Amino acid sequence: MKLAVFASGSGSNFEAIVGAVHAGDIAGTVQVLICDKGDAFALERAERLCIPAYVLEPRKYGSKVEYEEAVLQVLRSYEVELIILAGYMRLVGDTLLSAYENRIINIHPSLLPAFPGLDAIGQAFDAGVKITGVTVHYVDAGMDTGPIIAQEAVKVEDSDNKEAVQRKIQAVEHSLYPKTVQHVIEDLGRRINQ
Ligand code: GAR
Repeated sequence: MKLAVFASGSGSNFEAIVGAVHAGDIAGTVQVLICDKGDAFALERAERLCIPAYVLEPRKYGSKVEYEEAVLQVLRSYEVELIILAGYMRLVGDTLLSAYENRIINIHPSLLPAFPGLDAIGQAFDAGVKITGVTVHYVDAGMDTGPIIAQEAVKVEDSDNKEAVQRKIQAVEHSLYPKTVQHVIEDLGRRINQ
């Protein structure tokens, strides 16, 4: 299956997914990285991993529709079948949602529906929860909403500071996301063959 990863920041999940593809754990290829920020570290990872990367900055377009149409053009040129959001800090609009119905997934660093939005790890830490975690879900028009595909819990110890929680969350993300991407690919395959 032909995959695109969207990232706005560090891109550690992007790299974990490319690693799983190389290891044969994902039956697909990462065709392209889409980045909405020109200074995202994910771009350096893409170069090292030899994955084509495109920077499309929304502010350079007249509207969200025009921005997403430009993204769509790139996706179509790589025949992308599944979009993987990996730290893409932007709401997906109707243009992409209708072109890729049930084919956009996202990872979020909390047990949704708890702590949606920005700095979910900080929100959970400040709330003093003893268990948080990671969610992978299908994307709809809302912020970190959409049907949940997989979740994994992370325990917060009394001795953990926010950075320690973040490290635990990221370690879980880097194993849960590739595994879940493979499940989604298998599901899509079944749907297509029905
Ligand atoms: C990840 O923790 C991901 O769950 C989060 O951004 C981080 C990106 O890290 N996404 C969200 O908060 C989405 N609402 P990465 O760039 O190193 O993969």
